Amino acid sequence: MDSMVIEGGIPLKGGVSISGSKNASLPIIVSSIMFDNVDNEIDNVPDLEDIKTIKKLLISLGAEIKESDRADKVIINTSHINNCDAPYDLVKTMRASILVLGPLLAKYKRARVSLPGGCAIGARPIDFHLNAFRLLGADVEVDHGYVEVSADKLKGAMITFPIPSVTGTENVIMAATLAEGTTVIKNAAMEPEIDDLILALNNGGADIRRTELAVIVIKGVKKLNKLKHGVLPDRIEAGTFMVASAITKGDIILNDIEVRHLKAIISKLSEAGAKIIINSSSSLRIKGSKVIKSVDISTAPYPNFPTDMQAQMMALMTLSSGLCVIAENVFENRFMHVAELMRLKADIKVRNNFAIVKGVKKLSGAEVMATDLRASASLVLAGLASSDGCTTVSRIYHLDRGYEKMEKKLAGLGAMVSRVKEDEPAPIVEPIFNNKIHERDAQVE
Ligand code: EPZ
Repeated sequence: MDSMVIEGGIPLKGGVSISGSKNASLPIIVSSIMFDNVDNEIDNVPDLEDIKTIKKLLISLGAEIKESDRADKVIINTSHINNCDAPYDLVKTMRASILVLGPLLAKYKRARVSLPGGCAIGARPIDFHLNAFRLLGADVEVDHGYVEVSADKLKGAMITFPIPSVTGTENVIMAATLAEGTTVIKNAAMEPEIDDLILALNNGGADIRRTELAVIVIKGVKKLNKLKHGVLPDRIEAGTFMVASAITKGDIILNDIEVRHLKAIISKLSEAGAKIIINSSSSLRIKGSKVIKSVDISTAPYPNFPTDMQAQMMALMTLSSGLCVIAENVFENRFMHVAELMRLKADIKVRNNFAIVKGVKKLSGAEVMATDLRASASLVLAGLASSDGCTTVSRIYHLDRGYEKMEKKLAGLGAMVSRVKEDEPAPIVEPIFNNKIHERDAQVE
């Protein structure tokens, strides 16, 4: 298991290009199941472990991933899908594998997928997905750790989610795309990744409309033609690099982004004192402020402040000028990064789904362990800001699930970071203050 060694205290400077969205790529890639007898093309797909996993899953179903002329272009032909079973060993590594349920049910009227189980951040049930499939006319059996869905045919239905669910909305959209009649989803999630899926499906012959903010209407069609789509930029990667600039008092430009999807993040970082200049709809500049103001955070579904940015903002708040309260309202256990941040001398107290963060003057480098995707990002950000000693973040396979070439992108902004393979000795990274000692020694000599 690789680690990342970070020599902190260096303000990041320069430009960085943000990759395509992981959480848009995953549903769009699995939706190719509904487009057979054609080479489906999906562009701007990030090179991530989760993308590798979903490709493996599709191949296990019988799909063919073809060579493409660009690293970020995925070409999938699903004409020879001959299996509708998603095995435990694949699903357990990535719960988003449950997204194959919708398209398999739509196209082949059956699917058998291992229950994803929980993960570090919560139980992650899929009851909303299964209840919706039942309303569409499917039989749903849960047994021996697997969920099996089947239907003679799917008929449009009125579906209301108790609370917005991103993959729940995506699964139902895909299941309803080829159903007979019209499906209406109420209390549908509003994340931009869902609208990217809708755009991709409509360009391929589907008939899906977001008629109100939280209402999506799907008119079933008989057949789809070809999936050809460029995935939208990853707003969480963008937000993570914005925090990287704020926490290191840096000055960076983000390119290839979708500014309109970043409103809640821009607003919070501006409130915390960062100077943000919008260059265009796809580029912004963010300069960290000398004093990081304490701001309260309360996570909620889009368009509110995203839960996927909570850990990163907490890292920033550990160096703020006062006290703030961070409320995690989406997942029940998304504070796994707290104990590790405290190893870097952060001052944080957790009470239920609230974290009280008291800003400290400085963080000091230490060995910390990543526990989940966004927690690992939070630890890297804190390491970048730790001006006293190096930080080693272990188990960065979590990071590799959702961030493309993060250490390269950070190094491109001037960060002193290196990836250490498990069986390699850690590099001797001379912290800055040691160099000063050597210089002084040299003068004495
Ligand atoms: C998606 O997860 C994202 N994953 C998550 O990103 C993100 O944190 C989350 O949405 C919230 O924005 C992908 O898109 C692949 P939900 P999802 O269903 O769909 C409860 C990352 O870091 N719920 O919107 O699984 C659930 O427990 C990942 O990239 C049910 O109770 O989240 C949670 O409390 C982490 N029953 C709330 O709803 C259900 O059937 C929202 O979950 C489904 C959800």
